[in-house]
Formats: sequence, structure tokens, C-alpha cells
Amino acid sequence: MDSKQRVYMNQGQGETSYARNSSIQSAQQNRMKSLVEAAIVGLCSNPNTLLSGKMAIADLGCSSGPNALALVSIAVEAIHNHFLQFQQPPPEVCVLLNDLPDNDFNVVVKNLVALQQTNEPVCVTGIVPGSFYERLFPSGSLHLVCSSNSLQWLSKVGKLNHISAYDFDEHIRRERLPVVAAAYARQFRKDFTRFLKLRAKELVPEGQMVVSLVGRRSDKLATEISYVWGTAAQILGVMASEGMIDKKKFDSFYIPAYGPSAKELRVIIEEEGSFSITEMQAHDYATGMDRALLTPNRIANTLRAIFEPIIVQHFGEIMDEFVRTGEKHLSLQRSSQVEGTEDPIVMVLVSLAKA
Ligand SMILES: C[S@@+](CC[C@H](N)C(=O)[O-])C[C@H]1O[C@@H](n2cnc3c(N)ncnc32)[C@H](O)[C@@H]1O
Repeated sequence: MDSKQRVYMNQGQGETSYARNSSIQSAQQNRMKSLVEAAIVGLCSNPNTLLSGKMAIADLGCSSGPNALALVSIAVEAIHNHFLQFQQPPPEVCVLLNDLPDNDFNVVVKNLVALQQTNEPVCVTGIVPGSFYERLFPSGSLHLVCSSNSLQWLSKVGKLNHISAYDFDEHIRRERLPVVAAAYARQFRKDFTRFLKLRAKELVPEGQMVVSLVGRRSDKLATEISYVWGTAAQILGVMASEGMIDKKKFDSFYIPAYGPSAKELRVIIEEEGSFSITEMQAHDYATGMDRALLTPNRIANTLRAIFEPIIVQHFGEIMDEFVRTGEKHLSLQRSSQVEGTEDPIVMVLVSLAKA
């Protein structure tokens, strides 16, 4: 991201906070449960883990609210159940949470303390602020790394700063798209490769990693730069056409996020070479999700909780109009949608073992 752009989700516990508007992401985390449990069983059955008598698990891009501890709680419970089943004493467990320094860690810290007090094998907890595109932990110190809904965020969009990523004029936008999409794809490849290299250093031998990120269904280079923020961009486009925001400002706006296809991700992982893929899944974003979670109002407020800081940094205070326009736009879109049309967004889940 450029030096002026700061990424964080809406802070606090209020009506517009990420904490209160992340149930869609929570449903995605639930889909990772069996992969996290399988990774823990693998680790707990490994003689090296048993010998060391300790395990360290970390969630990267934890954000705030109930989702921040969801994956590590699944892991802690799985550790507890495993050792209970074999009537063995559990190892000492260290739980670490990471996000960027602007993240609201206030309540997260309190919830971490509660986790420590109510879960017997957890003896150490901690917050590790910083970018997951940098080193965060000592080498060979982690057993399991989890991350949900976060790795679609890029470290920066670099040279793209002088190319308008999302032009108001549809013709210009379509013409420019191949160059822009290729640049985002390149940045994603660079970032994800770096992420893998860093985590490979920080994990113990045979350490595990379970991550999910927003991706795209098609293997073709995106027909929009990134579906990850496509809906937010569409809403801003409507606002620009109705004069609520300046068209020039709209042209220079971008969000540093990219949704890869499952195949694209597989190629990057295989080329980097530090991990073998235990399992990879690509789910429809909405399938199996409670439809009540997907009302236009809920989606518009979820987009607000995710993108408000970045939108306000660029356009100023426009978020109430953003939600109103979003609700209207999404309702219209829904009523004109052809039954059976496939959603271009998928959730990509991947379970990795350090090679
Ligand atoms: C949509 S939230 C996901 C939060 C939570 N894991 C969930 O599933 O609900 C994405 C999080 O990734 C964090 N993030 C983005 N880029 C990051 C980076 N380079 N390093 C660490 N965290 C990052 C954001 O600050 C944000 O809190």
C-alpha cells in the first residue's frame, strides 16, 4: 500500500465496528474448523511435538471482535481433546495473535486473558503487532499458523500508483484492465511468496499452516481487478455517477487487495517450495451460509466495517451515503440477477505442511 494508506478494520464495539459486522467472515472461519482440527491431530501425533512438551499457535490478521480468537480457540480445544482422549498431560500452549499496528487490540487483549484463564493448556498469550509480510516470530518457534480472510490484502500496489485502477469510464476501465490486473497479480505473487518464505522460517520442522482468503472462481486473469473489493467499487461508482463523490477522486482510488484463483495459489505454493499442500478447497462464498447473513443491509454494513478507514482516508466522511447507496444498489442487482448465475467470488482454503 502507498505510505499514506493505512489498512485497518472499523475499530471499537459500536454499530459500525468490525466486531459487530463480521458474521459473514465468521461463517467462513467455521469452514476452516475441520482443517485446523486435522492439523492439530497431525501435530499432536508427531513424536517431536510430544517430546518438546510445548506448542505455539498463531493467528495472523486476527482483527478485532469475536473472530479474532475463533481459530486459535478451535486449535486449543482440539489440543485439549486430543490429549484427553489418550489420557496424557497436554503440552504447554502459547497463543499469539497478529495484526497491523492500527488494529484495535483493546478487547482482543482482554479476550486473550480470558482464554488463558479458562483453558488449562494455554499458559502464554501475546499480541504481535506488525505486517505478516515481515518477520514476526523467532525462527523455528511456531507449530501452527492460521489466517482467515486476510491474505487477499497486499503489502502495497507499488508502481500502480500512477495508473488509475478503477476508472469511472467503463470503456477506459476495460481497456486498462489487463495491465492493471496483471500488476495486481504480480504483487500478490510477490507478497504470498514472501509470506510463505517467512512462515517457513518461523515454523518448526513439519509445522502446519491453515489459511483462507477471498479468491476468484475463474482461472482467467480477473475480468475486474479484484472481486474482493468489486462491490465496494461498484457502490462508489454509483455514488460518483450521482454526484455524491468527485469522479476524479473515484478514478484515483484503489484498494490494495487481490483475489487469486485456487490454481494460481497452488502454482505459487509449489514454485516457492517450502510447503506441501495437504488439502485445498474452493467454496462458493455464500453456499451453506445462513441467507439472513446476506441481506443487502448486512452486506453494505460488512463492506463499511472493512473498507471505511480506507474509503474515508480518500473521500472523506461519506459512509452513511455509502451504506444507503449500497443497500439500494445490491437490492436492484439482486432483483435483476439471473437465477443460477455463479458468484465470481470463492473462498479459497488451504492446509499446508512445512516440507
Ligand atoms: C477482513 S479482516 C479478517 C479478520 C479475521 N481474521 C476474520 O476472519 O474475521 C482482515 C485483517 O487482516 C489485517 N491485515 C491486512 N494486511 C495485513 C498485514 N500485512 N499484516 C497483518 N495483518 C494484516 C487487517 O488489518 C484486518 O484486520
